[in-house]
Formats: sequence, structure tokens, C-alpha cells
Amino acid sequence: MGAMLTAASHVAIVRAADEVPSLDSESVKSGRAIYGQYCASCHGANAQGAPDWQERDERGELPAPPHNAEGHTWRHSDAMLSEMVSKGWRDPFNKTKRLTMPAFGDVLSAEQIRTVIAYLKTLWTPEQRGFQVEESRNQPFPHQMR
Ligand code: HEC
Repeated sequence: MGAMLTAASHVAIVRAADEVPSLDSESVKSGRAIYGQYCASCHGANAQGAPDWQERDERGELPAPPHNAEGHTWRHSDAMLSEMVSKGWRDPFNKTKRLTMPAFGDVLSAEQIRTVIAYLKTLWTPEQRGFQVEESRNQPFPHQMR
């Protein structure tokens, strides 16, 4: 994992929309259901994010961001996204040390994490999808997560 994440020396090229691989509709469907059950409470029913998600709250923590085209989830590679979901995440500048994005590695299988991310990809513009495909070229989903 570490080696994959440090191999970031490539320059991302925005691909034409027709070069972006299409998403498996069964994965998207189960990913949407997982999203509704485990993610929507914080990230919003339509992945619109928490209100005022760009501003730190009274605890000095960043609220849950959107996963749609308004957010920045599409900037992360498949490897990074699955790591954030399985191990949890906090903004390094948060005033607290807790993981504001909870770890789902004991709740969801690697395959379920992959499908929920597939659902998020349906919310991005073709340009964002193309960027994320390039980002993931050398940083794909882990083949064996545990
Ligand atoms: C308890 C609330 C909560 C739940 C439930 C939750 N998240 Fe999060 N998530 C957050 C917060 C808060 C952040 C922002 C962390 C930060 O940057 O400080 C975040 C960040 C993320 C990020 C990084 C986003 C980015 O654009 O950089 C991803 C990806 C993510 N969440 C996916 C998910 C998925 C998928 C689920 C469901 C399996 C989920 N989250 C469930 C609160 C939550």
C-alpha cells in the first residue's frame, strides 16, 4: 500500500469522456444501497455534504463533505478512497485527534467498499471521472485488503 501511494510522479491527463470505462450497473446498485445505510447520515441523502461543510465547526473539525461534483472526492485515486473508507480519516488540521470519518474496515468488505465508491463515481462529471481514472492508473483498488 505505501509503495502505491508514493508512486505519484505521473501527471494526470484529463481524458475524453468516451475513454472513461463504464461502471458495472449491479455494483452501482448495491453501492447506492450501502451508501444509504452507512454514509448518507453524514454525507447527505444525495451526497450533498453537511451544511457549511467547508468551514470548521465549533470543535475545530471539518464536517462531512459532498461526494458529488461540488466536492473533491473525485480528486482521490481508488487506492486512496478505499483506504479512507476502510481506515477512516481526519483532516490533519482538525483541532481534535479523533477520526471524524469513521473506519469501515470491520463493517464493510473490500468488495462493498469498492461498490460504494462505484456509486460515488456516478455523481461526477465526465471530466472528473476522467481525472480520477488517470489518478487511479498507478493507484488502483487493493487486490487483497485483508
Ligand atoms: C459519522 C459521520 C460519517 C459517516 C457515517 C461517513 N463519513 Fe465519510 N467523512 C466524514 C467526515 C466528517 C469527513 C471529512 C473528514 C475530514 O476531511 O476532516 C469524511 C470524509 C470522507 C471521504 C474523503 C472525502 C474527500 O472528498 O476527501 C470519503 C471518501 C468518505 N468520507 C466516504 C464515506 C463513505 C463511503 C461512507 C459510508 C461507507 C462514509 N464516508 C460515512 C464523516 C462521515
